[in-house]
Amino acid sequence: MTENILVAVAWPYANGPLHMGHIAGAYLPADIFARYHRLKGKHVLMVSGSDQHGTPITLRAEQENKTPQEIVSRYHKEFLDCWQKLGISWDLFTTTGTANHAEVVHDLFLRLLDKGYIYKDSMPQAYCPQCKRFLPDRYIEGTCPNCQYPQARGDQCDECGRTLNPSDLLDLRCRICSAVPRFENSEHLFLRLSAFEDKLKAWAKNQTHWRQNVLNSTLAFLEGGLKDRAITRDIEWGVSVPQPDFEKKRIYVWFEAVIGYLSASKEWAKSKGDASAWELFWEGNARSYYFIGKDNIPFHTIIWPAMLMGYEGLNLPYDVPANEFLTIEGKKLSTSRNWAVWLPDYLERYAPDPLRYLLSIAMPETSDTDFSWREFVRRNNDELVATYGNLAHRVLTFTQRNFGGAVPTPDKIDAQGQGLLELAQTTLNDVDKLLYGCHFRESIRSAMSLAQAANRYLDDKAPWKTIKQDSQAAATSVYVVLSVLSALKTIFYPFLPFSSQKLHSYLGFEGKVEDAGWRFKQPVAGQKLPNPEPLFTKLEESIIAEETAHLGSSS
Ligand code: MF3
Ligand code: ZN
Repeated sequence: MTENILVAVAWPYANGPLHMGHIAGAYLPADIFARYHRLKGKHVLMVSGSDQHGTPITLRAEQENKTPQEIVSRYHKEFLDCWQKLGISWDLFTTTGTANHAEVVHDLFLRLLDKGYIYKDSMPQAYCPQCKRFLPDRYIEGTCPNCQYPQARGDQCDECGRTLNPSDLLDLRCRICSAVPRFENSEHLFLRLSAFEDKLKAWAKNQTHWRQNVLNSTLAFLEGGLKDRAITRDIEWGVSVPQPDFEKKRIYVWFEAVIGYLSASKEWAKSKGDASAWELFWEGNARSYYFIGKDNIPFHTIIWPAMLMGYEGLNLPYDVPANEFLTIEGKKLSTSRNWAVWLPDYLERYAPDPLRYLLSIAMPETSDTDFSWREFVRRNNDELVATYGNLAHRVLTFTQRNFGGAVPTPDKIDAQGQGLLELAQTTLNDVDKLLYGCHFRESIRSAMSLAQAANRYLDDKAPWKTIKQDSQAAATSVYVVLSVLSALKTIFYPFLPFSSQKLHSYLGFEGKVEDAGWRFKQPVAGQKLPNPEPLFTKLEESIIAEETAHLGSSS
């Protein structure tokens, strides 16, 4: 079995706060997957970082009258704070602004150039005579030829979703100064993607373990034929081009950002004092999983694999479990219209696990799913508090009151109790397989049904009634439920790490829950239990109206 697992996660642009769409799309599934594998004793390397180049950053800087670096530093810091509060367990979250990154990008670039996979050519580029500079696609605005939307961008129309070239737009203008750009020839470097078409087709067809949507969209993209792509731009902000006469140009953000997976792995290795440790995650039978949103699929299933094929010697992606989109209160998420729930706002007011729970159980794995505050409150109150939290709290406080705060010694466990313990073991086994295959929703659903089954058992056995006449029977049922709770804190751990750690200690186990392994360990009779606090807190219905009122507002 493969022991080394690279968890590679999309690099968020450091041009604005994180929102629920980012979390449901990539960061939460990646974290669940990494925590699960660590619990299984696998070696995991989970890396990503701030994507600090590209027009999303420079546009934002221009709007705010700041330098790109100021924008990037502010959001990178905010990202780190969010990861910590939400419990996203990176081995390294770096940025594309490091010297190490530039070095690795240059190395890859030069090898591809050397092998003839990168070549020079000229192409017409929009030039603004008033700003006296070349304009990146996103700096160009005009009317969409497809839907007549007047504010389509040079690369895409946000209204109809069509991808565009700047020259397709009607009524072309510079987004900064509104002057009419002209087209001028400029020398650029191109990635010879066409050279990889057949190899990529053969490779992609074999990836039958990929999600349907990922496989289909990749094959459809390949069917359309691969065109070579320019990988340099006439801009100042970005990774330099290691070629004479390209001093004023930079490497295109997408070409270098995907290399971040490799450069971050190398940075991680250096920082732990074993500079070649990254190789274990990139060579041989190591497996790499790329967690991304569906809009990034071709970059990870076509362009990055082509770059790796050209480079040679490093593993291609093993899986790319891309998620679909998350809608907010039934509408498409839009950051510009502030139709988004921002992560820093959430984390200021609420605990991390309820969000992790909701976004896991409603993860947009196979189709778009919706986030609503009503559903957030309902899932928290009816499922986390009433089902799982209440099960734990009832049994733990009962143990404190009636058994002196120690795990009671069970009598013979009847068929119903045995059945429940078996269910705990099978749930652990089932979720093991499900998580291995990146089926997150089904996993957490199974975990919750185990909690429901334990609640039914506890209601049937009613130890609070039997304790008076038959304390042995009460002790047995309490022991059974404490055991199931021990399975639950393990199964829920990848999803709900904070409450699992609490429950781990309430059950009398020492140390960290992540060191306890993926196994069903029953508490030992006599094991001392500390005083428990409730695992979750009920939320007021009133927050639904309060929170929805922020949506779409301008502040
Ligand atoms: N920054 C890009 C986005 O937010 C994602 C980059 S993923 C990487 O859409 F692989 F290129 F790093
Ligand atoms: Zn201009």
